Amino acid sequence: MSDKHRDDVYQNLDQVAGNGLLNRRHLLGLGLAGAASLAAQPLLAAEAPTIVTPSWSKVPGRDLSGYGYPSTFAQGLQRLTGAPNPLLPGGGASRSPLHLMQGSITPNGLHFERHHAGIPEVDPAQHRLVIHGLVRQPLSFSYEDLLAYPQQSRVYFLECSGNSGANTAAQASDGTAASLHGLVSAAQWTGVPLSTLLAEAGVEDGASWIAATGVDGASMGRSIPLHKALDDVFIALYQNGEPIRPEQGYPMRLFVPGWEGNVSVKWLSQIKLTSGPANFRDETSRYTDFLADGKALQFTYPMGVKSVITSPSGQMLLRRQGVHEVTGLAWSGSGAITRVEVSADSGRTWADALLAEERQALALTRFRLPWLWEGAPAVLQSRATDSAGNVQPTRSAVLAQYDAANRYHFNGIQSWSVSSQGAIANVYA
Ligand code: CO
Repeated sequence: MSDKHRDDVYQNLDQVAGNGLLNRRHLLGLGLAGAASLAAQPLLAAEAPTIVTPSWSKVPGRDLSGYGYPSTFAQGLQRLTGAPNPLLPGGGASRSPLHLMQGSITPNGLHFERHHAGIPEVDPAQHRLVIHGLVRQPLSFSYEDLLAYPQQSRVYFLECSGNSGANTAAQASDGTAASLHGLVSAAQWTGVPLSTLLAEAGVEDGASWIAATGVDGASMGRSIPLHKALDDVFIALYQNGEPIRPEQGYPMRLFVPGWEGNVSVKWLSQIKLTSGPANFRDETSRYTDFLADGKALQFTYPMGVKSVITSPSGQMLLRRQGVHEVTGLAWSGSGAITRVEVSADSGRTWADALLAEERQALALTRFRLPWLWEGAPAVLQSRATDSAGNVQPTRSAVLAQYDAANRYHFNGIQSWSVSSQGAIANVYA
C-alpha cells in the first residue's frame, strides 16, 4: 500500500481519544466511515485470490458422533489448570481462556473450576436434597422430583471471589487474561426457583438465613440471607442446555446470581433454614476480606463492577501496525453493564466502547472498540459502569480499602502495556 493511500484511509478515521482510539461508530457499518472501510483497508490482505480444492473436499468426511467435540485444530483451546497441591488434595482452580474466546457465553468444557476437595462422582439416583430447619414441613427431593418442577432459564456470570487477586501483589506478574482474570465464566443456567421449594416447605417465623451444604469431600457450606434466597436463587440442573457438568456440581448446585461464586454451593444436598449465619469454615477462615484498619469483613457477597480487555491482552503480540479491535468483557454483581470506556494512554483520555446488544443484568457483556496502532508504546485500559451507577475503580483505589494480605473482591482497572514491538504485558499504571 502506498503511503498516500494509507494517509487517505487514516484521514477518514474518527479518532476520539488519545493514542489512536477510534469512534465506535466505525463498527456499526455506517457507510464510508463504518466497518466496511476498516475491513477494506489494505492493511490486512494483499494477495490476489486463487481458488484451490483442498484434499478434504475430494473424499467423504468422518462419521456422525453421539456427542460432539472441537476440531483437532482447535484443541489448544483449554482451561488453564494449575499443578495439583499434595497438601490440599482436590483443592485448586482452573481458569477460562478468556483471551481465546468470543461472545459472552462460556462453553461448558471451558467454564472455570474451583474445588476444595475435588469433584465427587455423585450418582443422581442416590442423591437427595433435604430442606429442613425452621420450616413447617421438612422435605426431601430426589433428582427426578426436581426435574418435574417448573424451571426457569437465565444467563448469569459466575465469578470466584479470588478472581484477579494476583493484581493485589506488589509486582505485576507477567500473566494472561486467563491467568489473571479467568475465574469468571457465564452460562445459561436452568433450574427450579428456590422460592418454589421454600413455599412448599413453609418458612417459619424467625428464619432469616439459609445454610447450604454440598456432598463433596469438604462438605462445602455457605450461609445466605433469606431475602436473597427468596429473590433470585435457584437450584441449577442444566448448564447451556445440558445437565450441569460434574465440576459444576452435578446433579444440582445452588445458583446465587451476582454473588461470589463460592456461595453457589455445588453438589447441593442440604438447605437448612436458620435464625442466623452458620459461620462455616469457608465464611470465617476463608472468603472474609481483610481491611486496611485491621478488621475483616464477613459476608461480602456481590461481585463488584469490573471489566477486562481480553484482546489485545497479556503475552499477546501485535503483528502489524494499523487498525486493531480492542475487545473484552464487563460484568457487575449489582446490575447490568451500561457503559464501558477504553483508554489507550494509561487513563488520561477515554472513549466509549460499543456494547453488545444483549445486556442482561448479572451476565457478561462483550465490548469492542477499533484502535489505530502506529507503533508507539501504549497502555490499554477499560472501565465499566453498571446500572446501579457503580464505576470500576482504579487498582490503587481498591488496594486502599484493604489490608495488603487481602486477595478477595479485586475489581480494579486492568492495564496492558503495548511495547513499540507490539508485545502486550500486565503492568500497574
Ligand atoms: Co466476599
